[in-house]
Amino acid sequence: MFSGKYILLRAIEETDINKISIWNFDNEIAQYFESRFPNNILEQKKWFDAQINQPNKKKLIIVDKANNTPIGMVGIMKIDHINKNCEVGVTIGDKDYWGKIHGKEALKLTMDYLFFQLNMQTIYITVLEENERSIHFFKKFGFVQNGLLKDMVYKDGKYQSYVWMSVQKNNYQPFIIAS
Ligand SMILES: CC(C)(COP(=O)(O)OP(=O)(O)OC[C@H]1O[C@@H](n2cnc3c(N)ncnc32)[C@H](O)[C@@H]1OP(=O)(O)O)[C@@H](O)C(=O)NCCC(=O)NCCS
Repeated sequence: MFSGKYILLRAIEETDINKISIWNFDNEIAQYFESRFPNNILEQKKWFDAQINQPNKKKLIIVDKANNTPIGMVGIMKIDHINKNCEVGVTIGDKDYWGKIHGKEALKLTMDYLFFQLNMQTIYITVLEENERSIHFFKKFGFVQNGLLKDMVYKDGKYQSYVWMSVQKNNYQPFIIAS
């Protein structure tokens, strides 16, 4: 478990899967991801089982320390221990927390761990080009755009592109939490 001032990051428990499903199918959040069929409880359970013992990826639940409530999720994917890079993703599923400090602290704790404990050299993300809020959010941590992965996702009747962004350890700008 990683603990900050406002949030902690903990492992996913089976009791989280219903909430994760609600976040994933919230229209305002789902618009920024590839289209998915709705899933039932058995499919959610299988997804949860598939997260166990994955050496190259990890999902963590973001919990508001003030009320011990899960508010979102961090994903760490494609962990490459030889070349020292990985992909990240952040979803604040409870939109009341958008624009507050919790998302920033979640990404800070994640990136601090990846750079300074796992010794990653490069962290990257891919986000849909229309997801301007997210692009702005990651830029604040030093992410810069490397390129555009053209027409990668078909949704809402058109192809959309991914913005591919990354940050190296020496360009990382950790978010400072005032004490
Ligand atoms: C992406 C996400 C984690 C960011 O958390 P957040 O609490 O909303 O982020 P913040 O408010 O700290 O930062 C967002 C920034 O974008 C800005 N912003 C908001 N809408 C914007 C827009 N349409 N265009 C450009 N910038 C925008 C905000 O003003 C803020 O910048 P500021 O702090 O300089 O004012 C959250 O919005 C979320 O979960 N979104 C849905 C899932 C998602 O898209 N995840 C990213 C892909 S992995």
